[in-house]
Amino acid sequence: MQQHLAKLKADGAVITFVPTLGALHAGHLSLIKRAQKLGSIVVCSIFVNPTQFNDPKDLEMYPRPIADDIQKLKQVNCDVLFNPGVNEMYADNEKWHLDIGGLEGLLEGKFRPGHYQGVTQVVHKLFDIVKPDIALFGQKDYQQFLVISRMVSLLNLPVKLVMCPIEREADGLAMSSRNIHLSPADRKHALILSKTLNKIKHEFNPDNISQLKQQAEAVISNEPGVELAYFEIADGDTLHPADKNTKSFVALVAAKVGKTRLIDNVIIND
Ligand code: PAJ
Repeated sequence: MQQHLAKLKADGAVITFVPTLGALHAGHLSLIKRAQKLGSIVVCSIFVNPTQFNDPKDLEMYPRPIADDIQKLKQVNCDVLFNPGVNEMYADNEKWHLDIGGLEGLLEGKFRPGHYQGVTQVVHKLFDIVKPDIALFGQKDYQQFLVISRMVSLLNLPVKLVMCPIEREADGLAMSSRNIHLSPADRKHALILSKTLNKIKHEFNPDNISQLKQQAEAVISNEPGVELAYFEIADGDTLHPADKNTKSFVALVAAKVGKTRLIDNVIIND
């Protein structure tokens, strides 16, 4: 991969990169289409990274439809697929730790201990292999984008990051590889997440943040089959709970719907 891309770079290619866990959907493909506009060679990686799964069952259950994925990448004319095995990416007992500050213990970091260490570990390796000029990530994983931005700035990595909007189903459900695990009933109940986020965006007023948050928590918790992990109206830069002095707001939610853990968010003042 390094040799192949070095040659293209020497010929003047601008490398854009979309890292994924596979089980590709229209959300992933929207990143690839955006990448095609920003550079000349698009690299997509598909690697179900074991170090970012804190639940072994979740790792085992993660869908891996590689033949379908390759088909989808061909349909959108993606230039390069990098699909390494675990032994190619990791030596035995490899250690990694990056100080990502407050983001480590907040929201997803709190509910999925070690998750962002695994994410930064693999994205750092992938950046080192692909050496992209531009890497694209989805707003769907808002906190992940902040964590990767912090890594890029801490380690002075020579890559520009671009955040892309959340692709949704027609009824508002955020696209996710995990949605295939939702039963028809779960699928219906899951809509409460995007509906509530949307309502918050429209009713937002910096003077009633705590009231809005409480209402949202109650509505989601009352939805059958939905177990709320967190609902937060946060500062868009730090993810600390927002207050009157906050400048940019984002509302984020995580919940288990049936057996499937879903996340979603909305940027309130974009
Ligand atoms: P994965 O969940 O496969 O997501 C790959 C990229 O697609 C991420 O940047 C994610 O934010 C984006 N994405 C997912 N759903 C989306 C949607 N509905 N609309 C727009 N973009 C969406 O995130 C990961 O993989 C991994 O943590 C990874 C960065 C690859 C490291 O292993």
